[in-house]
Amino acid sequence: MDREYLKNKYQSKIKNYIKHNKFYYENSDPKITDSEYDELKNEILELEKKYKFLKSKNSPTKIVGYKPSKSFEKYKHKNPMLSLSNAFYEDDIINFKKKIYNYLDKNIKLEYSVEPKIDGISASLTYINKRLHYGVSRGDGKIGEIITENLKTIKDIPHFIESSDFPNEIEIRGEVFIKKKDFLKIKDKFANPRNAASGSLRQKDPRETKKIPLNFIAYTFGYSKNTNYKYQSEFLKNLQRWGFKINKDNKILSDIKDLIKFHKNFENKRFDLDYDLDGLVYKINDLKLQERLGFTSNAPRWAIAHKFSADNADTKVLNIEIQVGRTGALTPVAKVNPVNIGGVVVSNATLHNEDEILRKDIRIGDIVKIERAGDVIPHVIKVDKTKRDNKSKSFVFPKKCPSCGSETIKEFNKTTKKFDAVRRCINDGYTCEKIAIEKIKHFISKDALNIDGLGKKVVEKFWYLDLIKKPQDIFYLDYNKIKKLEGWGEISVNNLKLSIENSKNISLQKFIYSIGIRHIGIENAKLISENIKNIQQFLKIIKDKQFNKLLNIDGIGETQVVSLSKFFNNKLNLSIFVELINILNIEKENLIKNGPLINKTFLITGKLKDISRAEIKSLIEKNSGTILSSVSKNLNFLIAGEKPTKRKIDHAKSLGINIISQSDLIKLIN
Ligand code: IVH
Repeated sequence: MDREYLKNKYQSKIKNYIKHNKFYYENSDPKITDSEYDELKNEILELEKKYKFLKSKNSPTKIVGYKPSKSFEKYKHKNPMLSLSNAFYEDDIINFKKKIYNYLDKNIKLEYSVEPKIDGISASLTYINKRLHYGVSRGDGKIGEIITENLKTIKDIPHFIESSDFPNEIEIRGEVFIKKKDFLKIKDKFANPRNAASGSLRQKDPRETKKIPLNFIAYTFGYSKNTNYKYQSEFLKNLQRWGFKINKDNKILSDIKDLIKFHKNFENKRFDLDYDLDGLVYKINDLKLQERLGFTSNAPRWAIAHKFSADNADTKVLNIEIQVGRTGALTPVAKVNPVNIGGVVVSNATLHNEDEILRKDIRIGDIVKIERAGDVIPHVIKVDKTKRDNKSKSFVFPKKCPSCGSETIKEFNKTTKKFDAVRRCINDGYTCEKIAIEKIKHFISKDALNIDGLGKKVVEKFWYLDLIKKPQDIFYLDYNKIKKLEGWGEISVNNLKLSIENSKNISLQKFIYSIGIRHIGIENAKLISENIKNIQQFLKIIKDKQFNKLLNIDGIGETQVVSLSKFFNNKLNLSIFVELINILNIEKENLIKNGPLINKTFLITGKLKDISRAEIKSLIEKNSGTILSSVSKNLNFLIAGEKPTKRKIDHAKSLGINIISQSDLIKLIN
């Protein structure tokens, strides 16, 4: 048969195939039946088999419709699916334990549930009356996608649980993954096993998911009704009894030394396992203690992921560039010859700060070892000095800000009595271009105003087009100009308008965070917002320069106060702040106020038994009580521990305030 004719015939079928893929996977609106679609696919495959010269990057052998769909229904997780803090070294584990003991009482004996950390995709399974109702992806941790039908194709996921003691309503979480040997069969289609699992899970058609042999291992619950487990290990055993797969290498250990030993052994053993894993998870086994420890803003205090040693590779430093961050920090970055580390091409590596370059004597032209561990930014671990050119010169760190030309300084840290390793631009305001851009990026970021459609790249573009020079400019954008820009149109402009409009309603804590003041991160912004009435009161503190008032807040210290005062001493910073207050609708977050301590105020003096200050405070707040910072007539209860401050007791007595013990407080709560 004529070659040209065959080529044309083949190309027209491929075109048709792409068109129907789009209808099916992207629009969820198929225009042909499944069997017609399969027939079309087969015809293409037959032609390819018969005539080897027929090739296309869009052939079903290459794409197989693995493109993730954008059209799953969204699902708000009852409890967010958080991530874990990472530990790389022994010290991180020792610190993990230290932090727990700082929070809890030192006499408590800790036991850890040790679980292999499978490198897959987490999924949440909600069972109602023993039947699997929802299977949901992690998504961004708060909102996932309903992928029930796809999850149901996994043989390890039971659709119905027989056991009589299975809770009426429970959400079970675990990891979906592909075994190494199964991945080998499809390795041409995906970058790594994790991608294969996630791509397969997000197929619009569950039949496509079923084609890839996925596995599921359960390890925790998101929530559970009417149940009373005491230990994580006990819950894991239940999971197994109910018919879920759990990891056969799960273990209970109590001593940090044993954790480290187990980690060392497992690190070698991992290559013999039939699945990929990137570390071990250590969880406090006692669920009551887990509850007491609670969470920081994005990870539990009661668990940590102890990563296996990182992947690394050798490459050449092509250049050293200096980036200027939001707080003026100058960060040197090595531009390196692109190198593949564990499936990811790395071309930048952070050099952290000036001291780090000096310490390691990193120079342009050097051959260096770069490490890339998990989500951590790639960094240089060492220089191969044997390969160094004799003509190479030490790197001279610039003394002027590369963005605005201002002086740079290394601050003296009063606590450590040392100069900071980081050099900073002294221009901590909007007159340094790079700092200003970074501040605006921070202002619109997820934990701040969270403006959809206005990402970091857009901020940069709008900056150079003079559309946004200060945060408030966002609210007076010239949409007619934006509409004409490449990549923008009626719909995207309208969406942007809407999300900017929505972002005007913001909680006090997010607003304080969004300003981007050094040392005022999410946690500190929350502390401040909880301890002031409203934004006007904060403004008054600023105008009266009464930052010392904030020292009464547990967690806010000298560093934060100095930083606040320095920030607002800058007239431009202050005027931007005031203007934003006028534009935005800033509300204090409404805490659900119906606990037993509602409308009651507390102050603690002296040392408490078995519980830290931080924990008792959060316990009081959880039960809707309020913490005061000093004895006054507004105080209802003074909680006196061991060795209380006499002045506080006397003052409370003189005002007729109830002085109670720790156990009295617990009685009030129960
Ligand atoms: S516990 C907040 N247990 O690791 C508690 N996670 O970095 C987090 N993972 O998203 C879940 N094995 O995908 C937990 N035995 C295990 C795990 C595990 C793997 C993954 C999971 C999670 C991520 C957290």
